Amino acid sequence: MLLRAVSSTSPMATCIHLLVFTLLLLLIPISNAALRPSEVVIPVQKDVETSQYVATIKMRTPLVPVKVVVDLAGTLLWVDCDDGYISSSYRPTPCGSAKCQLAKGIGCLSCNLEPRPGCTNDTCSVFPYNPIKNSLMTGGLSEDVIAIQSTDGKNPGAVAVIHPFPFSCATTSHLEGLARGAKGMLGLSRSSTALPTQLASQFISTAPIYSEGDQSDEYFIQVKSININAKRVPINTTLLSFDKDGVGGTKISTATPYTTLHTSIYKAVTQAFANAAASMKMSRVASVAPFGVCFSSKSIKRTRMGPLVPAIDLVLHSQDVYWSISRSNSMVQVKDGVMCLGLVDAGKNPRTSIVIGGHQLEDNLLQFDLASSMLGFTSSLLGHGTNCANFNFTSKV
Ligand SMILES: *[C@@H]1O[C@H](CO)[C@@H](O)[C@H](O)[C@H]1NC(C)=O
Ligand SMILES: *[C@@H]1O[C@H](CO)[C@@H](O)[C@H](O)[C@H]1NC(C)=O
Ligand SMILES: *[C@@H]1O[C@H](CO)[C@@H](O)[C@H](O)[C@H]1NC(C)=O
Repeated sequence: MLLRAVSSTSPMATCIHLLVFTLLLLLIPISNAALRPSEVVIPVQKDVETSQYVATIKMRTPLVPVKVVVDLAGTLLWVDCDDGYISSSYRPTPCGSAKCQLAKGIGCLSCNLEPRPGCTNDTCSVFPYNPIKNSLMTGGLSEDVIAIQSTDGKNPGAVAVIHPFPFSCATTSHLEGLARGAKGMLGLSRSSTALPTQLASQFISTAPIYSEGDQSDEYFIQVKSININAKRVPINTTLLSFDKDGVGGTKISTATPYTTLHTSIYKAVTQAFANAAASMKMSRVASVAPFGVCFSSKSIKRTRMGPLVPAIDLVLHSQDVYWSISRSNSMVQVKDGVMCLGLVDAGKNPRTSIVIGGHQLEDNLLQFDLASSMLGFTSSLLGHGTNCANFNFTSKV
């Protein structure tokens, strides 16, 4: 799935360490407006200890809040069913059913213990993935109620209740590595079982929204070149497009803490940044892993927009559409007195040449428009005198 990025210049209300994903969902019949939200907003908070992005959704009957780690590449919602999952609306999905096929389920699970959510017979098996530990398990596909805040774009609307919503049960041990208190992961990819598609299929009555030939369920954008202080960095542009096997290109990932770059791009960008920094009288100090270019904080001036360092712009599908990585998003304070450029070398053979990570996404408002395959973004909200922590739906967008 390749998203076209559009930049929004309009200022909007405030967010620090918070991303807001708007899953913007198509036109809705007026008569059903009360029941069919056009947009759903999921406020996402950064967990300081793990740098993971965490959201709280409501689930089960009666509804209870469930903290989940957000994964843009995740194919489904999975939650721990072993630890007191009680819900009158829980249903396991039978193996061989149409829903099982749609979720790419394989085989049947059985369980010899006392029946409960997560322990049922003849259940469609799916494979919840924990990208933090790179571990996959076999879990039972299930359904239950989930509830998410809707919005008309400015004001909070009704809570959108989605039932049945597919998810996978997982064991408590599968939570290893997740932010404290998290009970699972929320997949936001474009797979049939992930939240965006589920919202679309339950609330949108018209038109398929997938372009044909989608190779991947993840979110890709087209970066044409990279500028530092408005000067183009010489990079091998072949790496910026996809080859016939889908290798190359640029994607957005909340599961990656810092942007990672193919070695040849990494070298070119860090070299250009270091040169620009030298001309701004920033003094280099020993690097601190995983970063390769670090400076003495004392040599960097401070502004409202963050540290005054060379500007990094990703040039998108046309020369005048940029994603400006704001100065506070480009630098990382690694310890007292030392700031590093927050980019990481991905080696010579990464599948995706540029993976824009969480640190570079912070305080950007991302809007996934499923109807038109557009990614809307504001380059850092800090430039609009605001940040994500203070996001207020009632303020003008
Ligand atoms: C699954 O089926 C087996 C064999 O019929 C039975 O012993 C077991 O109790 C069942 N498990 C559940 C969770 O119903
Ligand atoms: C650019 O990258 C492609 C893909 O990795 C590679 O085949 C090609 O040789 C590179 N070109 C240059 C000039 O390094
Ligand atoms: C949001 O902004 C509106 C208008 O500026 C204000 O009346 C309202 O109290 C604010 N809401 C919150 C939760 O801060």
